[in-house]
Amino acid sequence: MEEMIDALPQHTCGWTKGNITFYKYQEFWISKSHLEANILAQQSFKAEPSDVFLCSAPKTGTTWLKSLAFAIVTRERFDKSTTPLLTKFVHECVPHLERPLVVEYEDIRKNLSLPLIGTHLPYSSLPESVISSNCKIVYIYRNIKDVIVSHYHFLREGSKLPMEDAPFEEAFEEFCHGVSAYGPYWDHVLGYWKASLERPEHILLLKYEDLKSDPKSNVKRLASFIGCPFSFNEEEAGVVDNIIRFCGFENMSNLEVNKTGKLKGSIFENRFFYRKAKDGDWKNYFTNEMKTNIDKLTDEKFTGTGLILK
Ligand code: A3P
Repeated sequence: MEEMIDALPQHTCGWTKGNITFYKYQEFWISKSHLEANILAQQSFKAEPSDVFLCSAPKTGTTWLKSLAFAIVTRERFDKSTTPLLTKFVHECVPHLERPLVVEYEDIRKNLSLPLIGTHLPYSSLPESVISSNCKIVYIYRNIKDVIVSHYHFLREGSKLPMEDAPFEEAFEEFCHGVSAYGPYWDHVLGYWKASLERPEHILLLKYEDLKSDPKSNVKRLASFIGCPFSFNEEEAGVVDNIIRFCGFENMSNLEVNKTGKLKGSIFENRFFYRKAKDGDWKNYFTNEMKTNIDKLTDEKFTGTGLILK
């Protein structure tokens, strides 16, 4: 595997002072550790028809989606004072397919008999059994400009660089050239979008901004889609509202477990996954020219899809 990976096109992000290198594998840029786990998952992961995949490009709301899905699926077993989300980082509660430690996390999943598994893999790179088993797939996507800013800060903090040593303009340029974690971002979204048109009963697309502006109907859609719809009585008793409040940024970002620690072997601390969660933070970073350029690129890629990523 080492030889195969070394032969792939590589890109080291200069603005991270060489801390982050991506490899181009099956048309997408992936870090080495994720790539190895990705290849192993493609070779050996056997999905069950009951598995529910929570898919996303990084920085689009993965952490939020995982907490919501976990709280929905486990709501009869745990309440807000007993849920593992209080003491375990959500990426440990819901394992990630291409984490190097996936085997360890698979054990956690089996022990909790949890159907959920997260992945950043593009649709075209998912292990074959995910498609052939007709697993449910939920895909979250987000306004590209906020993703660029979020992605910049995530890599910058992972590289332990202050903003003055990590020029945003360079990170922006790279992103526009498709070089980002699991980028090009447009192609990532388009892959799941196309698949959702072909297999609408198996793939649900959620938009981060919609989840923010109308959490109740989107959380209900999510619950129904993954086979755990809320009953009338649950709704009346405030179960949906409680889940939304518990998984909200305000609560989650203030939990001790999310303010400290990091996953084994990761350069990213748990707190990096909870930054600002603001729509439109890009306005604090983009020049007019950057806005025009990214809008133009996005228009070109998304013409005729009806998808709005701006
Ligand atoms: P910002 O960097 O814009 O703040 P991911 O989970 O895919 O890595 O995405 C991280 C982004 O989602 C970050 O965005 C983070 O702050 C935001 N986020 C994390 N938890 C959230 C929550 N509970 N509600 C809304 N946004 C959340």
